[in-house]
Amino acid sequence: MSKTALGVARVRAFESRRPDRLFDDSLAQRFVDAAPDAFPVDGPMTTIGAVFHHHAVIRTRFLDDFLLASECRQVVLLAAGLDTRAFRLDWPDGTTLFEADLPEVFAFKDALLSDEVPRCDRRVVAMDLRDDWNLPGFDATKPTAWVAEGLLIYLDEAETDTLLSKVDQLSAPGSEIAFERGLGDSELLKKARDLPGVSEYSKLWKGGLDTGRWLTGHGWRTHDHDGRALAERWGRVVPEGSAGGFLTATK
Ligand SMILES: C[S@@+](CC[C@H](N)C(=O)[O-])C[C@H]1O[C@@H](n2cnc3c(N)ncnc32)[C@H](O)[C@@H]1O
Repeated sequence: MSKTALGVARVRAFESRRPDRLFDDSLAQRFVDAAPDAFPVDGPMTTIGAVFHHHAVIRTRFLDDFLLASECRQVVLLAAGLDTRAFRLDWPDGTTLFEADLPEVFAFKDALLSDEVPRCDRRVVAMDLRDDWNLPGFDATKPTAWVAEGLLIYLDEAETDTLLSKVDQLSAPGSEIAFERGLGDSELLKKARDLPGVSEYSKLWKGGLDTGRWLTGHGWRTHDHDGRALAERWGRVVPEGSAGGFLTATK
């Protein structure tokens, strides 16, 4: 089971208990409870947890808003992990939502959500994004809202290029995409990368492709969203050294 996905679930469960929460993902606590030892609470992971916490909260809310504002009725969550948006967001009628991730993630996740009813037509696609994947039942003639949340930082330039090419190929006019970017430039992450015990995670951080330029070059209109401005709008204190934000694009 993906430790990074469990780490995000831990953040979402914590945020959901705050009276001033930016979203309510109470299902996240089930994942945390089912894998209590997967994500150490003490030691160096406390630091990396703190580094990611703020970012994961802001990005969850930003992408919730992005999806709910979209007019696309076909949604794809690439590397969905333990995302519970299918169950917790108020989707418009006729929404089909694909969740794509590795088989072991769904084995863990769906066993814990078996009593829950999705609020959209949820389709689970167990696959490896490095393979030549496809989404059974996906309609490439319909505009799609794509989300790549907590994913691109783990892909190198060639892998990102392959992924975006595939998304572009499957995207009818009017499609949209959103993901975070610039996180790797953050001073906090640069410091965290060197902490003992963090290398298990930091060695996964790659990045490299200029995704904005890539999308513009392929006919998408891009829009940058500053993470700091969003956090301030939502009344959150931005940690020192925090950087990055989000990119959305429309085809
Ligand atoms: C940091 S988690 C983010 C999960 C989710 N998007 C979220 O924000 O809650 C990264 C996810 O990428 C998935 N992942 C990593 N490599 C993958 C691959 N090659 N194919 C499919 N999924 C992959 C992991 O299983 C994990 O669920």
